[in-house]
Amino acid sequence: MLQRPRRNRKSAVIRDMIQETHLSSSNLIFPLFIVDGENQKVEVKSMPGIFRYSIDNLLHEVESCMNLGLKAFDLFPAVEESLKDKYATESYREGTLYLRAIEAVKKNFPEACVITDVAMDPYSSDGHDGIVENDEILNDETLEVLGKMALAHARSGADIIAPSDMMDGRIGYLREVLDQNGFTNVSLMSYTAKYASAYYGPFRDALGSAPKKGDKKTYQMNPANSREALIEAQLDMEEGADFLMVKPGLPYLDIIKLLHDNFDLPIAAYNVSGEYAMLKAAIANGWLSEAAIMETLLSFKRAGATSILTYHAKEVLEKGWLK
Ligand code: PBG
Repeated sequence: MLQRPRRNRKSAVIRDMIQETHLSSSNLIFPLFIVDGENQKVEVKSMPGIFRYSIDNLLHEVESCMNLGLKAFDLFPAVEESLKDKYATESYREGTLYLRAIEAVKKNFPEACVITDVAMDPYSSDGHDGIVENDEILNDETLEVLGKMALAHARSGADIIAPSDMMDGRIGYLREVLDQNGFTNVSLMSYTAKYASAYYGPFRDALGSAPKKGDKKTYQMNPANSREALIEAQLDMEEGADFLMVKPGLPYLDIIKLLHDNFDLPIAAYNVSGEYAMLKAAIANGWLSEAAIMETLLSFKRAGATSILTYHAKEVLEKGWLK
């Protein structure tokens, strides 16, 4: 045998020398759930180790993350049922919990990168990402709501706005609204290829944001398709996106690779709530070792993602796995 690939695996030094993919704290984005009130820290049942924080505790959490070198946060609000309506007006009203949270994080930690979520579902009495009429999700009417929401986020200090709604034309529409109002420096991270997935269950539990009727298949993508992702990415590029995102992550590694190979924008992978729940449950039962977490996160980078939104972000730093 002239070729013995095992020679390149014979010691830790050699294995490290030829390692192609590395994960660093700068690649990680930590999603955080916010709830109204004071001194609240309520664990999400299906996501052990993940909490809904009131703003005071959110600031403590951000501080401890910053001390670990974790500096990018994606905020999601749990909105009281009584504040929800058909047009998600709570999403852009002045002084809402969400806007106060953005302001508080930016004021206390100016160097933190705050990413905000634009979509109607946490504020919609229908639990959909757009306006519902006769069981249909209206596209163009929804854009107006998304525009108001994005503008409110920008005014509160958002660094990056991430529309997760999957309405057509939203990136171009939001880019125009932001630019016309002087926010040319606020970035857009598009949920480019967001699939109609069963892996969002724990997230919807965390926010109480599940659709009241029907599903999201008329706007989120069919898990069986990959070529549609190219169309979505092409449109996002043309409409002014700064990042392309693939969501969920693990079941869609091929889509991450596809976008990476065809587009030159940075690619973000969203390692979603159900993926987190699945690993945590298996680890808690002793069916998998914790090493599965780093293996999973590395797979996103190997596939071509530059940034990873993951509920594991803080834990991997606390446990020193990135050293
Ligand atoms: C909704 C939204 C969802 C997530 C982020 N934004 C769920 C959905 O589309 O119902 C899911 C994130 C996760 O599961 O971790 N706009």
